[in-house]
Amino acid sequence: MKIIAFEVREDERDYFERFSKEYGWEVKLVTDKLTLDNVELARGYNGVTTLGWSQITAELQDKLLAMGISCCATRTVGYDHMDVKHAREAGFKLCNANYPPTGVADYTIMLILMALRNYKQALWRGQVNDYSLQGLRGREMHDLTIGIVGTGRIGKKVIDNLTGFGCRILAYDVYQDSAVAGKADYVDLDTIYRECDVISLHTPLIESTAYMINCESLEKMKDGVVLINCARGELMDVEALIWGIESKKIGALALDVIEGERGIYHQDRRTDILQNKNMAYLRQFPNVIMTQHLAFYTDIAVINMVRCAFEGIKHFVAGEPCETEV
Ligand code: COI
Repeated sequence: MKIIAFEVREDERDYFERFSKEYGWEVKLVTDKLTLDNVELARGYNGVTTLGWSQITAELQDKLLAMGISCCATRTVGYDHMDVKHAREAGFKLCNANYPPTGVADYTIMLILMALRNYKQALWRGQVNDYSLQGLRGREMHDLTIGIVGTGRIGKKVIDNLTGFGCRILAYDVYQDSAVAGKADYVDLDTIYRECDVISLHTPLIESTAYMINCESLEKMKDGVVLINCARGELMDVEALIWGIESKKIGALALDVIEGERGIYHQDRRTDILQNKNMAYLRQFPNVIMTQHLAFYTDIAVINMVRCAFEGIKHFVAGEPCETEV
């Protein structure tokens, strides 16, 4: 058995080596993302794994199929970079990773607290010996209503974490999960918008959720609403966010993801001329926290991301059902 892994980061190498021994497989590690230009590298391998920056398009899948490779495992939870519809039609197998939701859920709580306590400004001031309090007065969680949009594994874990803070928790999802009962109340999206002081997104990026945060939805929210996004940048219309911050409709924004991050995040771009104007403009506001898509990035997540790729490909190649098939 031979697999080829793309987008391999330095910190994943030990795990690839470890699982390659454990499974008795030959594993080729490539740091580049998988594209049509380098897909030939995969010739002769039984399966392919990537992270989220490779676009697993219909054309790429057809190319792999023509080379005798019929599966790709993304080491990410999100799979919006894969053409799932085409895969199903073409008989190309795709699976994602189901690493524990705890890392992203912890990070979400951190961002909520940082946003509510104006921590970015406090941190900036400390760097220049400005220890003033003016403008830093925060809000307490138990006094607030927090809305969780999306109650999959991550959203549910965020709700679990929030229960200790004593806040009122509202939840929205098209599928209601009984595990949420007693911790949060399911309501419709408009109620989330109308009643929540903090709204955190934990929904996948699909056609119906793309740009769900836009001028129209922002208008429905409380003045000074705090928005958190540790899911996908494209859930939010960035121009609308800028309007929201400038008009003070949005009180604070904490974004671990942003539209246009592809090609920027997870890279050292210090000496480059970056082209994403909205990203640079948003970042400079004192009440906007932006991090480089790292909510997922923990020791537990990384080992499990690699393990999931091995497991998924193992099942696909054996023709067995795969629990993480998408
Ligand atoms: C995911 O697992 O879906 C992530 O967002 C993390 C990834 C981009 C490395």
